[in-house]
Amino acid sequence: MAIYNLGSINADYFYRVPHLPGPGETLAAQGLNRGLGGKGANMSVAAARAGARTVHIGAVGNEGLWARDQMMESGVDTRHVSVLSDVPTGHAIINVDASGENAIVLLPGANHEIPEETRAAALAEASTGDTFLVQNETLNQAETAKMARELGLYVAYAAAPFDADATAKILPYLDFLILNEVEAAQLESATGKTAGALGVPDVIITLGAKGARWITQTESRDFPAMPVTPVDTTGAGDTFTGYVLAARDRGLPMEQAIMLASRAAALMVTRHGTADVIPDLKDVDEARF
Ligand code: RIB
Ligand code: NA
Repeated sequence: MAIYNLGSINADYFYRVPHLPGPGETLAAQGLNRGLGGKGANMSVAAARAGARTVHIGAVGNEGLWARDQMMESGVDTRHVSVLSDVPTGHAIINVDASGENAIVLLPGANHEIPEETRAAALAEASTGDTFLVQNETLNQAETAKMARELGLYVAYAAAPFDADATAKILPYLDFLILNEVEAAQLESATGKTAGALGVPDVIITLGAKGARWITQTESRDFPAMPVTPVDTTGAGDTFTGYVLAARDRGLPMEQAIMLASRAAALMVTRHGTADVIPDLKDVDEARF
């Protein structure tokens, strides 16, 4: 089976700062690194490194071929990544403080211009039982999710970054919803319902150092996080999502998929960077916590 991920591709510019800058503050960074990122690209790289056949649906500007190529080298099928002229590749300015916490500014660029034909061509290849995944750094998520649902795909949505309108529109088509604690609180205040009460068959709330909660229509189960000292939490949630869906796609029961994803995400917070440093299955298997 396969995962079709409609998602963002960004150039991530990482600045290591002593603390996150406040309003009006000028702050010197200790270093700058550029790497592949974007919640979409990170999830695709994670899913591919977790062993799933992963097809990315997205777009870059013509100065962003390196980003597409890096995804390809990570095992992602990039035939449905369009290269657009006159639009910049998406980028993210990521400040990471001494405790590993981050603050991100995004320029969507090509991520907001993914051609309709690109989506349709990718979905035309998909088969019943494949997974369709989407987040909030692209547009028209609900329209594409509806198409995917009609084709019999397992429709998964990571509600990040939080967008109340996008979430309300896509909800009727979802089989799987994943969000962090902050997004879950935002969703609750937007809808008046908890994430578990929205009628989505599988909901996962990631709780950082407190682990993860899996909520189905009949039960709620908590899973612990691995004990690690964070250096950079950026991309840990994306890694979790890619891993959990890849493991499910490979036939693992959800409990085991969540435990594997927790280990991958824990390893990820011990590493600086995003897609470049997403662990593969061997790293995750060998990690001792
Ligand atoms: O979740 C981390 C990601 O958010 C970064 O890679 C950045 O590009 C933003 O999309
Ligand atoms: Na990281």
